[in-house]
Amino acid sequence: MRYQSQSVAYWYFAVAVALFGLQLVFGLLSAAKYLGPDPLLYILPFDVTKVIHTNLLIVWVLTGFMGATYWMVPDESRTELYSTKLAYIQLVLWVIMGVTAVIGYVFRYGTGNKLLEQPLPHKIVIVIVMLMFLYNVGMTIRKSGRFTTTEGVLLLGLGLAAVLYLPALIEFRNYTVSIFYRWWTIHLWVEGVWEMIQGGFLAYLLIRLSGADREAMEKWLYVIVGLVFLAGIVGTAHHYYWVGVPHFWLPIGGFFSALEPLALIGMAIYAYSALRRSGLAHPNKLAMHWTVGSAVFTLYGAGLLGLAHTWPDVNKWTHGTLITAMHGHAAFYGAYAMIVLAMISYAMPAMTHRPVEGTVIGWWSFWLQLVGMFGMTLSFATAGIGQVYLERIMGLGYLDAQLKIQVHFLMLIATASLFAIGVILFIVDFFRWAPRFEITTGGDADGLVTPRAPVTA
Ligand code: HEM
Ligand code: HEM
Ligand SMILES: [Fe+2]
Repeated sequence: MRYQSQSVAYWYFAVAVALFGLQLVFGLLSAAKYLGPDPLLYILPFDVTKVIHTNLLIVWVLTGFMGATYWMVPDESRTELYSTKLAYIQLVLWVIMGVTAVIGYVFRYGTGNKLLEQPLPHKIVIVIVMLMFLYNVGMTIRKSGRFTTTEGVLLLGLGLAAVLYLPALIEFRNYTVSIFYRWWTIHLWVEGVWEMIQGGFLAYLLIRLSGADREAMEKWLYVIVGLVFLAGIVGTAHHYYWVGVPHFWLPIGGFFSALEPLALIGMAIYAYSALRRSGLAHPNKLAMHWTVGSAVFTLYGAGLLGLAHTWPDVNKWTHGTLITAMHGHAAFYGAYAMIVLAMISYAMPAMTHRPVEGTVIGWWSFWLQLVGMFGMTLSFATAGIGQVYLERIMGLGYLDAQLKIQVHFLMLIATASLFAIGVILFIVDFFRWAPRFEITTGGDADGLVTPRAPVTA
């Protein structure tokens, strides 16, 4: 650690990994309900467990983004944070918001708008927290006067993520209008501005871990971000196919969203070529695995599995089925869970006594999560294909079709258990090393000098 105030990130990471664990409890509960009978039917029914599962996901990933930003910005701008006190107050407010929202969901206190179920008072706290966060980061950069491109892309992503949350504060009485604007938040987050956040962290990690030339990395970052924007914004229309808006959205949505994987191919090549050039020269190989893993898994989960059902001719069969869950899991995990885990893995040796090259537990955690999530995706896919065929082609009722595809949920629970063991190992590996917030001089933020990649013609 080069700056004392970077230690703030540790507490954000601690909250993030703990909530990640809790998210899985509610995922496993939701999955178990597909097998029935459900002893918790009247206490925690499926709709409640699923809302808690997805909301915890959003909360822990955002906590991870904030922690990682508080780690990265002092390092990039070469200065202490503007206010550590503000950062701690922000974390406390954020945790209170998250915990009370989850308790509220158990008592059906929420707005019922998928992924944006937070009640209005909670939404207002979210906005306040985001403003505190952006102010703190903005003032830090202003104080230092040093502003890198990587940081710029990250902050633009974070700032726009806050702005795009604003439509979620408005309550629309018309269902079509409500759904229409819901995607301005959800789609433009995950297929737009959050990809800028991922891109910012990715570029930072690759520069630090591979010793790649900053200028070249930042130039490619612009290209990727440009491509995301070009396709992602109009690509929103792939959610407008069946919501009651004019027909012209069908070809527009199909065409532009099908271009979205291009940016993701670019991102995977970008990460892989940095890895090839450096040949794993940096001792923190575990962090490098998470980093390149994130880019590659995003291409699979978001790019390939998104493309699979983005065409109107396919989506008319698969819309809102387990095919959506297949893609949602792989995409969210690859792009946003893995990049947060990469940042944690990079910062850990400097914030705790974890050996820099990673631990056996850390490696098991990486591979079990990857294998587990891949298996979960296959389980959702096979279940989803069965569901589409039985329900939408053969015309079976929803519940009759569900009974026939139950066997796939056995595989889901088996593979999800592998995944969950991987996550438990990550949590154990995080908390078993006591924090140490010592300042190191020289080297990078992790206290190491990254070997520079040889310049190739
Ligand atoms: C990291 C990027 C991505 C993430 C995290 C992500 C995540 C998700 C999630 C969670 C949903 C379900 C949303 C809901 O129903 O409320 C969804 C839906 C969808 N996604 Fe993605 N996605 C990503 C990228 C993509 C890309 C690049 C494509 C297309 C090439 C795509 C195509 C779709 C489609 C067509 C749906 C609607 C499914 C339906 O009709 O039920 N996604 N995505
Ligand atoms: C132990 C591991 C997990 C299990 C057993 C699990 C299970 C489930 C189940 C059963 C659903 C409801 C699907 C439906 O509506 O029918 C769900 C929804 C969802 N889960 Fe998970 N999950 C797990 C981990 C994760 C992780 C790690 C992520 C993201 C990084 C994630 C993201 C989501 C999302 C975005 C949805 C909503 C999808 C949609 O509505 O289309 N889950 N999960
Ligand atoms: Fe989308």
